Amino acid sequence: MVELDGIIQDIAAEMAARTDRGQVATYIPELARVDPAAFGIALVDAEGQVCAAGDSDKPFSIQSISKVFTLTLALGKIGDGLWRRVGREPSGNAFNSIVQLEYEKGIPRNPFINAGAIAVADTILSGHKPNVALGEILRFLQFVSDDETIYIDHAVARSEQTTGFRNAALANYMKAFGILENPVELALGVYFHHCAIAMSCRQLAMAGRYLAFSGRHPTTGARVVSADRAKRINALMLTCGHYDGSGDFAFRVGLPGKSGVGGGILAIVPGKASICVWSPGLDPQGNSRLGSIALELLAKRMRWSIF
Ligand code: DON
Repeated sequence: MVELDGIIQDIAAEMAARTDRGQVATYIPELARVDPAAFGIALVDAEGQVCAAGDSDKPFSIQSISKVFTLTLALGKIGDGLWRRVGREPSGNAFNSIVQLEYEKGIPRNPFINAGAIAVADTILSGHKPNVALGEILRFLQFVSDDETIYIDHAVARSEQTTGFRNAALANYMKAFGILENPVELALGVYFHHCAIAMSCRQLAMAGRYLAFSGRHPTTGARVVSADRAKRINALMLTCGHYDGSGDFAFRVGLPGKSGVGGGILAIVPGKASICVWSPGLDPQGNSRLGSIALELLAKRMRWSIF
């Protein structure tokens, strides 16, 4: 742990000095206000020890990282029936692309592209009021991270709700094919609000523990998901978690990971650690530029790879 702590501090110092930080997302106006100089990293190991550096306690918009947790909840609700509504193949297209939906009869390629995550949100909604579904998502995150302070940033949710025309197009398109069961605006409302959850690197690293440690909540030993399901969620993170950058992330880092346009990445080292990095500048695929570089350095120095 002493060695690991030194490595984490070194990486944070190296990242702080870099000038090639990528571009902060601007299509959600509220995210354009985030400081591109921020960098945070936190890691929880099998003993529950936390190593952290930089802005590791500063909440940021988790955006698409939330899709890992909504997928977990939807699988808990309807099990493998979910795969009749959402595929599990990498899309090779941008996260907000509409092009495949027509060829594939409104069934999104995977649960992490926007269309797939809107279908997942619709599954969690299942006839309830949006606030009930959102309460469930928030409580789940608070439980898996052992932290009741996690909240929805309503300014970010509003910002996306008033500008999210592409997501509205995706949702309407799926509705036309009968993939969404609830009214489009309700499914979108749940989706925009769960993307707007704010968490720090430390909180997200804690939240990812069940994926690193065979589906169990390490503090209580409670089963969050079966070990098989944890493996499968990790498999989807590896193959689809970075959209059309998933192949490159697997090649460079070799770990399951899920990115968000807020600049966060949750990465899982099965049996060893749950890691979260945050740097708001993005690469052209919408994934954190320095976040993936930091994970690449860490995985190399620790010889962490699933391969
Ligand atoms: O729907 C959107 O565009 C955002 N709420 C989430 C997209 C996202 O995080 C893509 N990830 N890198």
